[in-house]
Amino acid sequence: MKINHFLTRRHALYLGLGSLAGLGSLTTNKLINSCYANQFIAHQHRSFYVQGNTPLKTRAAKKGIIYGADCGSLELQSQPELQAAVIQECAMLVPGFLKWNMLRPNPASFNFTRGDWYVNFAQKNKMLTRGHTLVWYDALPKWFKETVNKQNARQFLEEHIKKVAGHYAGKMHSWDVVNEAINVPDGLPNGWRKSPWLEFLGTDYIDLAFRITSEVDPQSLLFYNDFGLEYDKPEHEAKRTAVLKLLEKLKSQGTPIHGFGMQSHLDGHETRFNPQKLRNFFRDIASLGLKIMITELDVVDKKLPKDIDLRDRIVASVYEDYLSVALDEKAVIGVITWGLSDRYTWLAEFHRRDDQEPVRLLPLDTQMQRKLSWNAIARTFDNAPQR
Ligand code: G3I
Repeated sequence: MKINHFLTRRHALYLGLGSLAGLGSLTTNKLINSCYANQFIAHQHRSFYVQGNTPLKTRAAKKGIIYGADCGSLELQSQPELQAAVIQECAMLVPGFLKWNMLRPNPASFNFTRGDWYVNFAQKNKMLTRGHTLVWYDALPKWFKETVNKQNARQFLEEHIKKVAGHYAGKMHSWDVVNEAINVPDGLPNGWRKSPWLEFLGTDYIDLAFRITSEVDPQSLLFYNDFGLEYDKPEHEAKRTAVLKLLEKLKSQGTPIHGFGMQSHLDGHETRFNPQKLRNFFRDIASLGLKIMITELDVVDKKLPKDIDLRDRIVASVYEDYLSVALDEKAVIGVITWGLSDRYTWLAEFHRRDDQEPVRLLPLDTQMQRKLSWNAIARTFDNAPQR
């Protein structure tokens, strides 16, 4: 099937399915089955061939790209086979215990035990670490609401950043200093998200957070991180505009920001993928002099067919279609998958499949075996331009 450069294979596939829908005579079940049969046929001939067994971190490094993973905060410490897989595949680790609700049992104390284990594990195995995240509207401890207010918010913000970024100073390749500050549906000017930080400190809270972090850890690359920007959908377009406006504002006022984190939680069922619009967004960010990291890459397979071979092929296609576009932008310096093995992914809890089948979206299966998703990501590193 000839595909013009705006249509990916998946677009063409769904167009084919759309024509099926026009038949009308098929029952729903038959239509669904024949749709998936079509998907399988279309994907059956897509090659995910990879030369050799070289790990993802090595393939990425050859092009000047860092590959790493968030590894399910709880599990890494207790799972030797996950540790072995992480050491083999990853050049970077995202400790999952660096959020307020994980670090702050009460207003007066910090608990770095679990975060330190991660950072020490990474350093021992010659991996970089990336901090996630110093300022977020979510994952706040239970005591936050009744303790932090307009009068003391700045003191709490400063103390938190100085303590946490200070504790790990010199050990973090980069920090997600501020996470998810834009939410256009909230209806605030410039698409800002309603959050306690905005309520208590106004729109300067982001600049303040970056300046404090830069003081305590001048070696770390400081990122703004966000999601819901990947597709050719009105809400994603609106958010891309708002995020770019925020980044331009920060750069114009001299905020010490070095990069943008594109979370990239993709949807296997979404067909509104427009490579050129994605390229333009990455280009516009890079033109501000910012680096870019793909910071939380995964694919929701909730609405994909139960058939494992077909589902794996579709998920692998989503990874390859998206990452091949992203990595064409040389400002993209790193790719973090939000998990490494299907045994531990937030999607198993937060995006369960209706058929209760286990999710299958990460590079390794539950037995730490490489899947087509691994092949797809390996191929994008192999085909990426040299940084
Ligand atoms: O550590 C406790 C453990 O002691 C306790 O026994 C267990 C009981 O459920 O909970 C454990 O903490 C959980 C933590 O994940 C473990 O990693 C929290 O309850 C749970 O809320 C937390 O969910 C995380 C979520 O962020 C909220 O922080 C997900 O794993 C994590 O994947 C998700 O990641 C976010 C990014 O930070 C921002 N972008 C979106 C992304 C997906 O939501």
